Amino acid sequence: MRKLRIALGGAGLMLGVSLISAHAQTITPTTTPPTPAKFDAQQTPTFVGIKDILEFKALPEYHEPEFVKAFVDAGKLPPVAERLPKEPMVYKTGNMPDGVGTYGDVIRHVIGGRPEGWNYSAGQSQGWGGIDIGLSECLTRTGPLFQVKAEELEPLPNLAKSWEWSEDGHTLTMHLIEGAKWSDGAPFNADDLMFYWNDILLDPQVTPLNGASPETFGVGTTLERVDDYTVKWTFKEVKPTQYLYAMAYGNFCPGPSHLLKAEHPKYKDGATYDQFKNAFPPEYLNMPTMGGWAPVEYRADDIVVMRRNPYYWKVDEAGNQLPYLDEMQYRLSTWADRDVQTVAGSADLSNLEQPEGFVEALRRSAEETAPARLAFGARTISYSIYPNLSGNGWGEPDARGQAVRELNRNEDFRKAISYGLDRVALGEALVKGPFTSPYAGGLMPPTSYYDDASTVFYPYSEESAKALLEKAGLKDTDGNGFVNFPADVLGGADVEITLLANTDYQTDKSLAEGVIAQMERLGIRVIAQFQAGNQRDANVLAGKFDWQLTRNGSDLITVVQNTQNLAPTGPQISQAHRAGPDGTQDLLPFEQQMVDAVNAFVATADPAERIALMKTYQQLTTENIYAIGLTQYPGALIINKRFANVPEGTPILQFNWAEDSLIRERMYVPADKQSSNELHPDTLPGAPGKGNAPIKSN
Ligand code: GLA
Repeated sequence: MRKLRIALGGAGLMLGVSLISAHAQTITPTTTPPTPAKFDAQQTPTFVGIKDILEFKALPEYHEPEFVKAFVDAGKLPPVAERLPKEPMVYKTGNMPDGVGTYGDVIRHVIGGRPEGWNYSAGQSQGWGGIDIGLSECLTRTGPLFQVKAEELEPLPNLAKSWEWSEDGHTLTMHLIEGAKWSDGAPFNADDLMFYWNDILLDPQVTPLNGASPETFGVGTTLERVDDYTVKWTFKEVKPTQYLYAMAYGNFCPGPSHLLKAEHPKYKDGATYDQFKNAFPPEYLNMPTMGGWAPVEYRADDIVVMRRNPYYWKVDEAGNQLPYLDEMQYRLSTWADRDVQTVAGSADLSNLEQPEGFVEALRRSAEETAPARLAFGARTISYSIYPNLSGNGWGEPDARGQAVRELNRNEDFRKAISYGLDRVALGEALVKGPFTSPYAGGLMPPTSYYDDASTVFYPYSEESAKALLEKAGLKDTDGNGFVNFPADVLGGADVEITLLANTDYQTDKSLAEGVIAQMERLGIRVIAQFQAGNQRDANVLAGKFDWQLTRNGSDLITVVQNTQNLAPTGPQISQAHRAGPDGTQDLLPFEQQMVDAVNAFVATADPAERIALMKTYQQLTTENIYAIGLTQYPGALIINKRFANVPEGTPILQFNWAEDSLIRERMYVPADKQSSNELHPDTLPGAPGKGNAPIKSN
């Protein structure tokens, strides 16, 4: 049959389809998804409690690098004790793998993204790869939780140094670090939070980079200022501790309101939202940050350089102001180059996440002389295709686009696609060996909420796929090898579906190309909509896609982080299904059930109930194919051997990316291993402004 089809080309294909479908049967999906080949993490963390990692307290004395002291002596900077908050965050020595560090040196990153500008609050990307993670400090922090004991798991305090729940569980009072300053010396306080809440999150015309919306913190939630260092959240739910995770990167990381407010259309006469978004282009330097380093140099397609923030509000137990590293560089190159350079020693850190490079990276890192160490972690990288499930106008589709949305909303169609994917072949095209494994979609095995028996997997079966396509009303009526819509839809035209994918990553391209070829075999014409990351992300946010292929985030790995993103729980939250122009959602019945399960999970603290709810969720999402799972595999952290205080077993992605989990402000280079790679030695960030250079003490 197969040979005949190939030999006869289009006509043969038509014959093949009709013959098969005449006796077609759909094989039963299975609840035993293929067991991934054993691939143990090469290192495991030492588990600790939150209080073992950090605390907030005043210390008898504080220290700073010699060259920073020179700024103080020259009258260009207040003394270190005055630059720090009343009670700085203190990292405990006992939790530092190599103890208290030494100042100096630089960490050299390579990124494949490009900075659009510094207005993170208004949705501008800084190019990823840890650049925005380092600039944006958030109310809470989750990256380092990979090393926190399960029974003590809750977000780390950060800008919010403590919090307490009211008796009835509806209000959460948060206490901010007191007397901390932005990197330009301006005070940080509740005004920054209220600007972020009122004029960023609640303003429908502004969406922060990671897509946070008011519903990220629960529908009906309010935030009020109590005083300079106290805010009060009021929730509809009782004690929804889940939102503490949502207040970490990248949902509640307020920007410098002392600069942003002046550009916001609400406060600036005649300003447009576009002007607001673009008011701080990459050439605007020394953008105030609460992070450890601030940007002092930008050269397009070349580099971003950051120097230490002299007002950083974190210290070690000896009172040394952090960070230990004076400089941070981001070479603007490609993600594949990040792996190559880190393995070779000309860059310092990479998340090895593109399987195409695994074999070479492993080979080189195994050599005695290798400058970097490489350690594989759990199988946390996964890819899915999200069919656009909005039938009511999100992204303003044309007639073709709308017809595809209707198909996407058809369960038989989604199942046909899933059956039609040869996931083993997709994975093997990336890398041979024990790495990749077929992925059913939904929660991933590393999470304790994952349950095999609740996971429905549609094994590769062209026959089942074709039978279901026909059931969905799709037949190749014109004999050109591609299925057509029924006669009353678009005049029975060929079904054409676009697949949006990110060209910054070879893996995304390889997978998308594999899917397109496999769909062609099924008689479905899928057209590549391949775009660079920033453009691709903008189209996802705007709903301008039929299908989009993406690497999944931490919600499917941890469940507790970004739980709200697991289903279309609010009009703006989902990357597969947002509200149409009228603000309403047209959820399919199973989506509504997913939303109910997620909301119930957020509203309860009962462990048994939570486990049961996630089983329900997993069954709903995998059986109904909310997203089409493709492949999953482990990634490796590659890090230059000269760095100290690198926690064992840091995963490249769990609660957040490694660039957060590693606690870079605590990493250092022992004196005898320090490099001379600083590009702006002895300088600090200067005044914020376009083209402003870093400054010297003399
Ligand atoms: C990109 C990279 C990841 C990680 C993140 C951090 O997505 O591909 O490895 O560095 O940025 O945001």
